[in-house]
Amino acid sequence: MKRAWVWVWVVVVVGVAEGLGVNWGNQAAQNLHPRNIVQMLKDNNISKVKLFDSDAWVVKHFAGTGIEVMLGIPNLHLASLADRYKHAKEWVKANLTRHIHEGGVDIKYVAVGNEPFLKAYNGSNLQTTYPALWNIQKAINEAGLGDKIKATIPQNADVYDSGNKGPSGGDFRSDIRATMKQIVQFLRDNNAPFVVNIYPFLSLSLNPDFPIEFAFFSGGAQPVQDGPITYTNMLEANLDTLVWSLRRAGSGNVPIIVGEIGWPTDGDKYATVDLAKKFYDGFFKKISTSKGTPLYKDEIEYYLFGLTDENMKSIAPGDFERHWGIFRYDGQPKFPTDFTGKGSNKTMPVAAKNVKYLERKWCVYANNSETTDQLSASMEYACTNGDCTALKYGGPCSKLDNSSKISYAYNMLFQMMYQDVETCDFGGLAKIVTRNATVGNCLFPISLNTDWAWRVGTDVTSTFLLALLVSLLLLLDS
Ligand SMILES: *[C@@H]1O[C@H](CO)[C@@H](O)[C@H](O)[C@H]1NC(C)=O
Ligand SMILES: *[C@@H]1O[C@H](CO)[C@@H](O)[C@H](O)[C@H]1NC(C)=O
Ligand SMILES: *[C@@H]1O[C@H](CO)[C@@H](O)[C@H](O)[C@H]1NC(C)=O
Ligand SMILES: *[C@@H]1O[C@H](CO)[C@@H](O)[C@H](O)[C@H]1NC(C)=O
Ligand SMILES: *[C@@H]1O[C@H](CO)[C@@H](O)[C@H](O)[C@H]1NC(C)=O
Ligand SMILES: *[C@@H]1O[C@H](CO)[C@@H](O)[C@H](O)[C@H]1NC(C)=O
Ligand SMILES: *[C@@H]1O[C@H](CO)[C@@H](O)[C@H](O)[C@H]1NC(C)=O
Repeated sequence: MKRAWVWVWVVVVVGVAEGLGVNWGNQAAQNLHPRNIVQMLKDNNISKVKLFDSDAWVVKHFAGTGIEVMLGIPNLHLASLADRYKHAKEWVKANLTRHIHEGGVDIKYVAVGNEPFLKAYNGSNLQTTYPALWNIQKAINEAGLGDKIKATIPQNADVYDSGNKGPSGGDFRSDIRATMKQIVQFLRDNNAPFVVNIYPFLSLSLNPDFPIEFAFFSGGAQPVQDGPITYTNMLEANLDTLVWSLRRAGSGNVPIIVGEIGWPTDGDKYATVDLAKKFYDGFFKKISTSKGTPLYKDEIEYYLFGLTDENMKSIAPGDFERHWGIFRYDGQPKFPTDFTGKGSNKTMPVAAKNVKYLERKWCVYANNSETTDQLSASMEYACTNGDCTALKYGGPCSKLDNSSKISYAYNMLFQMMYQDVETCDFGGLAKIVTRNATVGNCLFPISLNTDWAWRVGTDVTSTFLLALLVSLLLLLDS
């Protein structure tokens, strides 16, 4: 009897810690409804979601679903949260405690900022991040939730390096070392995890000398020897560099969570569906063993990046930024892969259900005019305001002929603007068609219908019109 209970306890506890997470970013012109997302996660056995914001309307859709949610606080709020404890208290009240009730949202972590010490930010968050973390955790504690809910900071793996000495040379970057030391000691004292984003793809894409197989898990890489330890993939080497960095900061036992990991499918020489599949297949197989790394033996929680494509993300780091989704913008899977790492590499992830699209209408290049002077200007306009990141680098859309590329550009903008007829003009060079404009494997998408907010308005309008009609009839009748 006793033994049975212990067994149940172990299964339940391990069951909670286990399970795959995924990031859901919503920097797309049109995003799937949170209801679609919940269903998709359930259908694919993904048990945790990490958000970049804490929009209460989005978060409440996860209530009672059994899906654990990591809330996010964008970097732009760090200064205000650092400045006054009162702001942190208000944030916790408005964005956290409202969801914590019987049948509410399962929240375990709050991500304070996102990669705030990225070199590209020139140190602008350096003074505010730690005080913001401190204030948010204090406010969580004061709300009586400190045992269950931990504040942490997702960091880019560029906050530490190994000085080319292998993982055992790992230490936090010298320009931020003092602050990182404070932060990790705070995490340690608070039983909170260190969250790190690790991207083998970026190492490969940014560094021409990077040994390509080291980015994957196929065993084909030249091993890297570090004292007695042999590393065969970048992920483990990188995680152990973090372990050493934490040890040197006097916080060696802080648990590690990988907050983002994944591979994009377009927008770079190395961003292809085939390489993404190769990466994920190997990755899922690796994590299915629950083995951690040579230095970090515990099981590690992973959050994939990301769930769906985001066609409005900044492409300053590269065109691939808009193609991180395992699923397309509309929740259709891009390639077969088995999230459990135990089944067949031919299994397709389960697509989103009940997705609502706008009408079957495409905007294409008409090519019926003598004057084509405006052609390149119109193309530039469409690409600047829309999304042409699929037209280069060897993906299926890069193989289109010139006139189809123009059509692709026009259509993307047209769809991103909710099929507004005025956006399909381009000085008379474009026309709207109802025949599927897709060319070969290059999908010409149809915008998602995101009219949920409108629907209330429409209902009100139709009720009003009906009432008007009824009174008119009554008037005529009398
Ligand atoms: C999800 O888990 C259930 C129960 O373990 C299993 O039957 C199902 O095949 C899994 N689905 C996917 C997509 O992995
Ligand atoms: C709650 O979160 C939202 C979204 O992150 C943010 O815009 C808002 O300012 C937050 N509320 C407070 C009181 O800080
Ligand atoms: C950081 O500095 C560079 C060079 O001075 C500048 O181009 C960039 O806009 C700055 N970034 C931020 C976030 O301030
Ligand atoms: C799928 O796995 C099998 C067996 O491990 C392997 O031979 C094959 O190359 C894989 N296929 C793809 C498309 O990755
Ligand atoms: C297609 O466009 C490219 C670049 O704009 C140009 O160099 C090429 O000549 C065009 N090809 C045709 C067939 O018009
Ligand atoms: C427009 O159509 C003509 C005739 O069909 C064709 O020769 C020409 O290449 C097209 N122009 C572009 C830019 O596609
Ligand atoms: C257009 O055709 C493509 C390729 O056959 C298909 O995948 C897509 O679903 C079609 N779009 C619509 C709206 O029917």
